[in-house]
Amino acid sequence: MTGRRGMRRSTVPFAGICMLLLIGCSPAERTGHAGTAEDPWIIGMSQCNLGEPWRVQMDADVRAAAAEHANLRVIFKDAQNESLTQRAQVEEFVEQGVDLIIISPKEAAPLTRPVAEAYQRGIPVIVLDRAVQGDQFTTFIGADNVKIGREAGRWIREQLGGSGRLVELKGLMTSVPGQDRNRGFLEGLQLEENTGLQIVFSGEMKWLEPDARREMESALATNAAIDVVYAHNDPGAHGAWLAARAAGRENEMMFVGIDALPHEGQQYVRQGILDATFLYPTGGAEAIEVALAILRGEEVPKHIVLGTRLFTQENIGRGGDPIP
Ligand code: FRU
Repeated sequence: MTGRRGMRRSTVPFAGICMLLLIGCSPAERTGHAGTAEDPWIIGMSQCNLGEPWRVQMDADVRAAAAEHANLRVIFKDAQNESLTQRAQVEEFVEQGVDLIIISPKEAAPLTRPVAEAYQRGIPVIVLDRAVQGDQFTTFIGADNVKIGREAGRWIREQLGGSGRLVELKGLMTSVPGQDRNRGFLEGLQLEENTGLQIVFSGEMKWLEPDARREMESALATNAAIDVVYAHNDPGAHGAWLAARAAGRENEMMFVGIDALPHEGQQYVRQGILDATFLYPTGGAEAIEVALAILRGEEVPKHIVLGTRLFTQENIGRGGDPIP
């Protein structure tokens, strides 16, 4: 930042020398920070909201990983589940002259452009968990949501032996994980071959427990029998269970979720509330490792895919099982 200010004030020959120096510099060197303990790299982290436990965990993972490195500092911003606020945060980070941006976007469409603009101005951008459109960012880190949805569909199909009445409670469908978890689920169910499987109710709970509870009340009111609830995240599955319990019907059906935080989804499985949950890693620690590599000028892959695990009543005691 001081460098930029200096350049603006300088005489033409001095600016010329800077320009020559800039051409040979790595992206990190182009910014004002040296990446030392005295002059640490600054990372701007825009989180789409901190109202959901999984996102609190992601920020905690970023914070813990960053604390291991004296040569970087992270500025956290919470967009409070507003895409326009999040867009403004990315623009603010650019104006501030941060060395790198990490964004976990709320929705793809409204955040694609601010991410692309930051990237085109030479600021590396790591997109975490929810994707944006196109390829104007440095790297994307996240688990494979189509695969997780497919595995959930397959597990449910196997549990039901090919016939049953299903409820699907979807995440926000303007976010890519919602779309992918729905698509994968349908693939995993193999509805053409398993004509006894029927999705009797489908609602959008937008990742939120109260919305899931409300949607599930409608599902219960309109369906005398339900065998399985598949929710796109654990708060959704828990909200559905709360609605079923209030109707005295929680033992009639299975509940399956995604996220598997130790103190949330895994705990629900231990308590017998959920029958299964699939790990959706936050990627917070990986984001810091990748950020450091980028800031050092190293090449990083465009897509980094994180693994998943399945937790059930049967395997929770041994920490779940990896899904190859
Ligand atoms: C939190 C969350 C998680 C979910 C992820 C998908 O906002 O809804 O529960 O797995 O986002 O992006």
